[in-house]
Amino acid sequence: MKCLHAASEVAGFAKTGGLADVVAALPLALQARGIDCAVVMPLYRACRNSTQPLKPLDLRFRLPMGNRIVEGRLWESTLPGGAVPVYLVEQPDYFERDDRATGRGIYQFTNDAGETLDYEDNSARYGFFARAILEAMRLLNFWPDILHLHDWQTGLAGVYLHEIYQPHGKPDLRGRYASVRNVFTIHNLAYQGMFWHLDMPMLGLPWGLYTMERLEFHGKINFMKAGIIEADRISTVSPTYAKEIQTTLLGCGLHGVLMQRNRHLTGIVNGIDERVWDPSLDPHLAARYDGANITGKARCKAALQQHFKLDVNPGTPLLACVSRLAAQKGFDLIESIAPSFLRRGVQLAILGDGDKVYRAMLLKLRDEFPHQVGVHLGYDEVLAHRIEAGADIYLMPSKYEPCGLNQLYSLKYGTIPVVRATGGLADTVVDASTENFAMGRATGFAFLPYTPAAFAQALERALAMYRDQPKQWQLLRQTGMLQDWSWRRSAGEYERLYQETLQEI
Ligand code: ADP
Ligand code: GLC
Repeated sequence: MKCLHAASEVAGFAKTGGLADVVAALPLALQARGIDCAVVMPLYRACRNSTQPLKPLDLRFRLPMGNRIVEGRLWESTLPGGAVPVYLVEQPDYFERDDRATGRGIYQFTNDAGETLDYEDNSARYGFFARAILEAMRLLNFWPDILHLHDWQTGLAGVYLHEIYQPHGKPDLRGRYASVRNVFTIHNLAYQGMFWHLDMPMLGLPWGLYTMERLEFHGKINFMKAGIIEADRISTVSPTYAKEIQTTLLGCGLHGVLMQRNRHLTGIVNGIDERVWDPSLDPHLAARYDGANITGKARCKAALQQHFKLDVNPGTPLLACVSRLAAQKGFDLIESIAPSFLRRGVQLAILGDGDKVYRAMLLKLRDEFPHQVGVHLGYDEVLAHRIEAGADIYLMPSKYEPCGLNQLYSLKYGTIPVVRATGGLADTVVDASTENFAMGRATGFAFLPYTPAAFAQALERALAMYRDQPKQWQLLRQTGMLQDWSWRRSAGEYERLYQETLQEI
């Protein structure tokens, strides 16, 4: 079986969140099961600084974008640590504008007033990318059985496949395109890629597709909706999120469309890339440790306290969070309850980048509790590892969470997660209720109502166990550390999904 993954982020090349981690790891796990995989992504400026060498290929293509012809070229590299090829779509005007130092990201930029805004031409950028994915098949002569598309940035690829490449492609290639099936994975339904309807001609799409049944959504073109409608199979990154997105509460307006496609919608929990996230191998830590011998974790904690200039005290509970600073992640709940816990002596370490309201909120908290709060605003992978290892408790009170990777990293690093039981958090963290604990399956603390009181109560329970029941705490840690959250497990589920998709032909 051949599978081509297409996504706008791949860890090691360009990353804003968990999507990048998934696309860097899943193809390798599938490859290990005998599926021939390749990955396509845009060539951003960040990719040029990747540790993975990039090689230009003599494979170029031209695409009409409205009244312009835009040229692209493919470059080649490989996924970090593995033999899966990555093809990068070079189009400097569209993709090489990112520069973290000046606040320019891959989707957004920060203006002079400090606001974060989307690039105005994102529809052209990702419309072009979607077609480039189909051009890549032809240029590379790589004909996948499964085209695995990830998130809205690839949403139009299915439309182009069905509307242009299958019916109107070069006659000798139509058959090749006709046998491609596509699986579309939703990593976060809240980001849909919605654009002005007058972009239809620029995208080379006939007005006949601008209907409620196809691409139209409340007067706009919706790339995510297109991806869902054009997919042979849809997946999302946890079974609970697969149910939640079919409700008005978390369906972000697309619940109706998803309910209609319910029979073809499934949830598969993400895995951990254990080559990157494993405390027994992690090169960034002050000491290494594992589930059988956790003593090194104390040194990681002291190193983290030193890093943030907090009191180096092994007995003080150290709470932490590494996250995009976005409303999704529940920072308003953290803001509500942090002061009362800090007044009682806990420490808090936060690494994050994003919305300016949360940046300001965190800096204010640090000013109020300078010896107890460490804040690093920005993106720092090494520090992310040191926080996961050094903290006692990981906070993830998300409003919604399609899967979440940080709670999985926390489980692996013996850092007890306190989570809101939504999406993937509900599917991966087992609350330390008396019953779960007695059955030896508890791994963290969970709460349901999205309220400061419920969050505070869960954290209270965690702190009580930390303080008064060290043996139970140790057991809780060990249960999480010894679990298998590797990609091996989830890759098997994806393989079954691919087989099912192909059987239906
Ligand atoms: P999401 O994709 O919604 O942001 P996930 O939990 O799936 O959430 O994945 C987040 C990923 O991004 C993790 O690998 C996390 O460590 C990383 N990350 C988030 N913010 C930062 C940051 N400021 N610095 C370094 N890594 C970060
Ligand atoms: C999204 C979600 C996150 C998920 C990640 C990878 O960014 O917000 O929950 O883990 O994608 O699937």
